[in-house]
Amino acid sequence: MTDQTQATSERFGFGWVAGGLPPPVTVPVEYHLHAMRTALGAPAFRGRVLDAGCGEGVDLASVVLSDGCDAVGLELSAGGIRATAARIAGSECARLIQGNLLALPFSDSCFDGAYSYGVVHHTDDPSLAVREIARALKPGATLLLYVYEDFSNRSLSWRLALSAVNSVRGLISRRSPATIRRFCAVAAPVVYLGCTLPSRYFRWAASFPYPITQNPTVCSLIPDLYDRFAAPVEMRYSEAGARQLVEQAGCRVRRSARSRGWMIWAEKLPSQRRTGY
Ligand SMILES: C[S@@+](CC[C@H](N)C(=O)[O-])C[C@H]1O[C@@H](n2cnc3c(N)ncnc32)[C@H](O)[C@@H]1O
Repeated sequence: MTDQTQATSERFGFGWVAGGLPPPVTVPVEYHLHAMRTALGAPAFRGRVLDAGCGEGVDLASVVLSDGCDAVGLELSAGGIRATAARIAGSECARLIQGNLLALPFSDSCFDGAYSYGVVHHTDDPSLAVREIARALKPGATLLLYVYEDFSNRSLSWRLALSAVNSVRGLISRRSPATIRRFCAVAAPVVYLGCTLPSRYFRWAASFPYPITQNPTVCSLIPDLYDRFAAPVEMRYSEAGARQLVEQAGCRVRRSARSRGWMIWAEKLPSQRRTGY
């Protein structure tokens, strides 16, 4: 494991258990997987499904309840594994494996579907990460992927806002996880009052050049901000770049959508025929 991957594991692991272990999920939660399906119009999963980088396990616990499939959560950090174990407690259909997306501990073509929300752009090699997920998929299987957007086709104000956030990130991200978390706890009410509430109640503010505007509570903003400021690696993509990520892995894009980043619905091609690269 590289130093950077180790740092990624420690940062995320700290974040997932900083507030204590979460309660089990007993009814499906409309979380990140639901957001991808809604934006892309993608159907439910069947068979054996991989949650690549399951984080604290909300989607993993929910997908077995909502889709009636068997799901395997793969997560790098020990903290994420502990939190996910708490989320799936009592579920017979969800399994959990600690591992690295860049060297998946699965044989070829063993999953009927996979999804990965907000993970590959935090790895040392996002192209390899997507190739690994695709390798583990059966031909014809569905892949749902979400990556951060690079704002290249947004207005100047959005690009300036991203630069400002990145500058703060440059200053904060080298601090200890506890310090970053404290910073996020202080910043959350400011972002909530300045961005979240106005964009909820005033139409003019919906176009605020700041991506975190949909959180229901101040507290729910803290992990989102922590994600943004604590991750050692953060890659961003244009729509073409996001599509290329899955195409170079031997998948065909069925649909893409922009929703706080790029969401891609792809299908693994029958052979290992790869486009590009
Ligand atoms: C932003 S979180 C997203 C978690 C979850 N997918 C969700 O939607 O809430 C990114 C997660 O990816 C995990 N991760 C980062 N690099 C990874 C890698 N190389 N292998 C496996 N998991 C990784 C992190 O530990 C973290 O839990």
